[in-house]
Amino acid sequence: MGISEPSLLLFLGRLHPLVLHFPVALLIAVVIVEVFARFRGITNSPIFQSTIYFILIVGALSAAVTAAMGWSLAHHGGYVGDTIYWHKRFGLAVALLAILALLFKRLSLQKKMASFKYAYTTTLFLCVSAIFVTGHYGGMLTHGDNFLSSAAPEPMASWLGKTTNRAATDKYLTTDTFTTQIEPILKHYCYQCHGESKQQGGLNLNKQDMALAGGDSGVAAITPGSALNSEAIRRLFMLRENKKAMPPDGKPRPSAEELVALMDWIENGAPWAGEASGPSTFLADILGENAEPADATAIEMLRRTGASVKEISKTNPLLMVNLSLHSYSPQQLTQLLAPLKHNIAWLNLSNNKITKEVSELISECSQITQLILSNSALNDDLIAPIAQLKHLVVLNLTSNEISIDGVNEVIGLPRLERLYLWKNPIETEQLDQLKLAYPSIKITSNIALVQTNASATKRRKTPVKTSTKNIEGVEL
Ligand code: HEC
Repeated sequence: MGISEPSLLLFLGRLHPLVLHFPVALLIAVVIVEVFARFRGITNSPIFQSTIYFILIVGALSAAVTAAMGWSLAHHGGYVGDTIYWHKRFGLAVALLAILALLFKRLSLQKKMASFKYAYTTTLFLCVSAIFVTGHYGGMLTHGDNFLSSAAPEPMASWLGKTTNRAATDKYLTTDTFTTQIEPILKHYCYQCHGESKQQGGLNLNKQDMALAGGDSGVAAITPGSALNSEAIRRLFMLRENKKAMPPDGKPRPSAEELVALMDWIENGAPWAGEASGPSTFLADILGENAEPADATAIEMLRRTGASVKEISKTNPLLMVNLSLHSYSPQQLTQLLAPLKHNIAWLNLSNNKITKEVSELISECSQITQLILSNSALNDDLIAPIAQLKHLVVLNLTSNEISIDGVNEVIGLPRLERLYLWKNPIETEQLDQLKLAYPSIKITSNIALVQTNASATKRRKTPVKTSTKNIEGVEL
């Protein structure tokens, strides 16, 4: 019968962002008009006094209503954390101080005593100060914790409590997939509702244990090793019309590439920041047992150029080297990498032009288990030497000029498990044959998506009712 109580309260709560501007404007207007009246010497005018008293009544009442709506929203809207804690308290302070200011104003009008006037001025001043603090926390809730401070110049930014972005400051230190690829996707599409300050559906994707545990449904949002059993992925594939689709309400969705990155990350064990995982890590652990310590000077030289160099672990002298953040000349690349060629296990040279010399040097890095060469101007001739990397497990060749002949050079590598071929001039049929011939190797390419789309279109023409879903709507 009618609307149940919690949803009415939530509805009223949701009016909070709409209504709040009313008391804010009125209470600030009171201050402005008081100051103005003092300058013009009209504070004793009865018309002025009754006008300001009336504005104050409406301001204080609407502040109380707004605060009540805000508490309801905080309670029913899934907000948690420090930000909401302070926003709630300062918001309540605004309402209480506004009511106090109103009382003192009334007393000062009736009794004409200086102490009431003084109390009125003080409470009004505190009230408006509290409005600014509340507004600041409110902004953090709706726009994210760094909304204001990220745009503010120093030293104001630090004063506003700018939290340094780990991904940005540690860019040269961290190479883990989570920090460089996954966190930015989650941050952009999910954290505003499933982060520190808001946990809709009871889900926090910002914390590993909570993401694994899932939200109110009790189903794991992320199941390491199985993307399709992860609720987060299932919901990303749902049709927009589905109420459970994520992100909801026409909010932007991850692109196909981002979706593949997310699924890939989960398939590889969903390692969190600082954790490494996947088959290439296991292999690197074994290879590292007999490896010589790496040349410290060579590591230092490499780091000075802005490259990221990390040891796989404290006990393992093999290195994870990322040179994709800057461009290096082929001579620089060979000079910098040559002294470390027996220690490099992970190498990322994306966005650097690979020449014959560089390609040959890579082929001498005998311990490489993971090699990323996307957007590196590679062609069939340049890729051929890579076929000597007997321990290679993951090879990423996205955005190059490699044809099926080039792929055939490397596909026979004994340990290869994953091959990325996005954006290369390879025909669909050729890829299909490749996948048939090498079923144990996961081959990722844009063709797969195009294909699924094409077959979905084909299916849609048939009269079978269940076939109306396109790739976006595949319910897994
Ligand atoms: C605009 C807010 C919003 C955004 C953005 C958003 N979600 Fe949600 N999410 C919700 C709400 C509300 C619920 C609870 C209702 C439901 O279960 O459908 C929810 C529930 C979920 C659940 C189910 C939790 C459970 O166990 O009940 C998952 C999984 C999920 N979201 C994943 C995501 C992922 C992944 C993203 C980012 C790609 C995302 N959401 C972005 C609002 C959002």
